Amino acid sequence: MSVDQRPEIENLLAEGRVFPPDPAFAAQANAQPDLYDEAARDPEAFWAKIARETVTWNEPFHTTLDWELPFAKWFVGGKLNMSENCVDRHVASGLGDKVAYHWVGEPGDTRTITFGDLHREVQKAANALLELGIEAGDRVAIYMPMIPELPIAMLACARIGAPHTVVFAGFSAEALSGRINDAQAKLVITADGSYRRGKAMPLKAAVDEAVAASPTIEHVLMVRRLGEAAPETTFVDGRDIWWHDLVDRQEADCPPVPLDSEHMLYLLYTSGSTAKPKGITHTTAGYLVGTSYSHKQIFDIKPDDVYWCAADIGWVTGHSYIVYGPLANGTTGVLYEGTPDSPAWDRWWQIIEEYKVSVLYCAPTAIRAFMKQGAEHPAKHDLSTLRVLGSVGEPINPEAWMWYREHIGGNRAPVVDTWWQTETGQILISPLPGVTTTKPGSATFPLPGIEADIVDGDGNSVPNGGGGYLVLKRPWPAMLRGIYGDPERYKETYWSRFPGMYFAGDGAKRDEEGYFWLLGRVDDVMNISGHRLSTTEIESALVSHPAVAEAAVVGGPDPVTGEAINAFVILRLGFDPTPELGEELRKHVATKISPIAKPKSLMFTPDLPKTRSGKIMRRLLRDIAQGRSLGDTTTLADATVVETIRENSLKSED
Ligand code: PRX
Repeated sequence: MSVDQRPEIENLLAEGRVFPPDPAFAAQANAQPDLYDEAARDPEAFWAKIARETVTWNEPFHTTLDWELPFAKWFVGGKLNMSENCVDRHVASGLGDKVAYHWVGEPGDTRTITFGDLHREVQKAANALLELGIEAGDRVAIYMPMIPELPIAMLACARIGAPHTVVFAGFSAEALSGRINDAQAKLVITADGSYRRGKAMPLKAAVDEAVAASPTIEHVLMVRRLGEAAPETTFVDGRDIWWHDLVDRQEADCPPVPLDSEHMLYLLYTSGSTAKPKGITHTTAGYLVGTSYSHKQIFDIKPDDVYWCAADIGWVTGHSYIVYGPLANGTTGVLYEGTPDSPAWDRWWQIIEEYKVSVLYCAPTAIRAFMKQGAEHPAKHDLSTLRVLGSVGEPINPEAWMWYREHIGGNRAPVVDTWWQTETGQILISPLPGVTTTKPGSATFPLPGIEADIVDGDGNSVPNGGGGYLVLKRPWPAMLRGIYGDPERYKETYWSRFPGMYFAGDGAKRDEEGYFWLLGRVDDVMNISGHRLSTTEIESALVSHPAVAEAAVVGGPDPVTGEAINAFVILRLGFDPTPELGEELRKHVATKISPIAKPKSLMFTPDLPKTRSGKIMRRLLRDIAQGRSLGDTTTLADATVVETIRENSLKSED
């Protein structure tokens, strides 16, 4: 869809409210206005200075950036260890008793994990990995709920130089095995399950199914979270090992391995515009610099802050801003196992009151869900400790932004809308609290050291007031280093649309004052509740059902989840378009990919609108799904198709 066809943007740009920084906040802020000039004068020198000041190096780097477009190497020649930077150095400087995580279990059980505890547990877990034969460079899949062993497992991998690939525990067995196979992982670390909305949710059956299709896996290391509550948990002798049997008996002494700056820290799979998820590769030093620096500046992190990023560690937000960035900064965080609505809609506010949370970072979907439930839920709790509020993952509409500011932030805490991606590793466009005058719904400006631009279809920068495609014109430390095993796809996906520029896949506008307004994806990627899903991935899941001949999927607006999935399905001969079959197909997608990928509506159709070259006209399908009037249909192979689709529509709504 062309960016200018989106009607919502004109409303956005009519947004007239502005919020200058509060002078009292500005006086104590980490971020300073002169950072922009300093970084612009010499971006490499700017990052090099931060890297020298903030990282504990085993060997210093000799070259800040080695840039052979599109392949970047940052802080070349340096050696360091991520887990040492996140844990050991804090213990060494006397912060062993400082809380690293206040963990809140869904049923109400809690654990307090200090940096000293992390130091001990990470070393034991690292020794366990070594005992299982994991060596530097071996990939380890992690498929775990939000329990403390998840960051411990990640840090243990980092300690010995084994890249992890965390797979969100809401993904299906098939999604897990696809990722394991692409990464050729030797080990899966998992748990018997977790608690969600008061219920035990077993996880092991999915692991068994995935491992049956993943020949590279030698062992399954499993944390006992549910125990008796998961009586069906299987145990395969010789392959499966309980975490408490193996890790607990290890020595808490496993020195961090000094690794090259460009050593692969992790792979994280994300959806692109094809059916096959991409293994986004992140390395060590640049990622550490980018995440820890942005975390400190954007959330104004001080030593006594209690910071809560309410994402799941299975997504990049959790990697960068629950685990690596905050721990590198020695920050106390909250880790919560459950959902916002259980046992009641004030669960988050109760946690914030109890732990005196001072910084909250979450997704607009959550904010809109809270808005729908009413301001009386947060009003029941003392939220006066909150001093910065962050938003991430999808465009935030001005109404949600204002509600967040007013009902959660008491009209006092600055709201930072942060734009970034799995690929960018770190936040790139965001206000700096205490410096930036914010506007509800705008991510404002690129951070110091980041050169973002908005270009037209020919790659020309558009003037203020115009719209186009978001690009990045200069490498940044935490940027992806590639797509695992596929350098051509890396070049093609990100660097070919506009030569010399990184194409993010997002549409954006800049207002007359140069503020960036993010508009969502311009490719075949959807964003459901801040979760990234590809239309083609869902289409191929539908087509894998024996009843389906062809399928097309489009996103449509949704007041809570931002976008919702609408599917159009052509059945094979001999199958009837019944509501039961529609429900079966929707469930089929949930099993193939994840419940988050389940289409909200499914429409059976005898045909699909296509261009003469056979490309599905998604714009028309979007119009149909939303019940809008159809635009220009003249490029249809068969103009009657759209009418037929409408006449045969059969909707099964949630
Ligand atoms: O479309 C943009 C949207 O989320 C996409 C990246 O998704 P993912 O890699 O899963 O990472 C999400 C968490 C960083 C982007 O291409 N997006 C992310 N943040 C924003 C956003 N859209 C608008 N405003 C944001 N603040």
